[in-house]
Amino acid sequence: MAAADRPTILVTGGAGYIGSHVCKAVARAGYIPVTYDNLCAGHAWAVRWGPLEGGDLIDAGRLDEVMRQYKPAAVIHLAGLIVVSESVKDPAQYYLNNVNGSIGLLDAMRRNGVERIVFSSSAAVYGEPEITPMPETHPQQPLNPYGTSKLMIERVLQDYARAYNLHSVSLRYFNAAGADASGEIGEAHPVETHLIPLVLEAAAGKRHSVAIYGDDYPTRDGTCIRDYIHVSDLAEAHVLALRYLDNSVGAHAFNLGNGAGTTVREVIDVARRITGGTIPVRIEPPRPGDPAILLADPSRARRLLGWQPTQSGLEQMVSSAWDWHQRVPVPQQIMV
Ligand code: UFG
Repeated sequence: MAAADRPTILVTGGAGYIGSHVCKAVARAGYIPVTYDNLCAGHAWAVRWGPLEGGDLIDAGRLDEVMRQYKPAAVIHLAGLIVVSESVKDPAQYYLNNVNGSIGLLDAMRRNGVERIVFSSSAAVYGEPEITPMPETHPQQPLNPYGTSKLMIERVLQDYARAYNLHSVSLRYFNAAGADASGEIGEAHPVETHLIPLVLEAAAGKRHSVAIYGDDYPTRDGTCIRDYIHVSDLAEAHVLALRYLDNSVGAHAFNLGNGAGTTVREVIDVARRITGGTIPVRIEPPRPGDPAILLADPSRARRLLGWQPTQSGLEQMVSSAWDWHQRVPVPQQIMV
């Protein structure tokens, strides 16, 4: 398709870890991804499949300008703050960026006649699991302001679908992991808090050790079980969600996980095998609000979106993250 015939998709947060993988998938599917990002956590080097437009979500004038210029067929909204512990310490930031910012974006969509949005939500909207694996109908009682901010926008989207014909898919990510197979893009957060990159930094000798937050959980080896899903599989789900919105109205939500649980120790063991590093561990107290097991029931996304993860084996996720880690432009010495 000639560039002029390809529909554009505005991707907020397109310079981030998940956002850059989404842009690649969206471009491969025949759209032009236009990244809207303030680069507070994303990277200009990760924007490779369409233009980068700098701007904040709370800047209504800038959003109008970009929407008028590109006339997006839809928005994929990933921009937001994502560190759970930080959201507990400084909730105002999270409500300002994730809630006010998202509402500002939705209002800009209404002003500019953009009627479809795919929203980056989170398993954090559920809180403490009452059923495992968790279906989308699981009660929603978030344990922290980050999860609350995502849930608030899911609710806003329900109201906006009814009142303004603004149709949406909320994608509830479980634990994104791994990196694009090409090695072009991968995970590079300004402050790393996620297990797999921390483990790989220890394998590379950039950290002395990795903390295991709690080894006395009621799980097979005492450490927390999470549902890791390859970031490229997550990215594909956004393309499927756009297609779903071509034929559906209303506000919809889907879990994106692979339905298989992995313990913290299992992640570390696989990483030791793949990297050849010793990866010393230290046992620390559980992080407040960390449930023992967090597992998706992903059957709804499979059934209604036709989503089929293909890269989410643990070995594949850790080895693609390791390939990326060896190229990534991060400081050589972190030493914690
Ligand atoms: N963990 C450690 N040591 C570390 C870091 C993490 O033991 O140094 C453990 C955590 O306790 C948890 C698991 O590894 O059991 C995964 O932790 P991450 O920090 O990598 O990810 P979370 O499960 O805490 O968070 C993820 C997303 C959040 C989202 C949440 C949904 O990153 O955005 O899932 O519940 F909110």
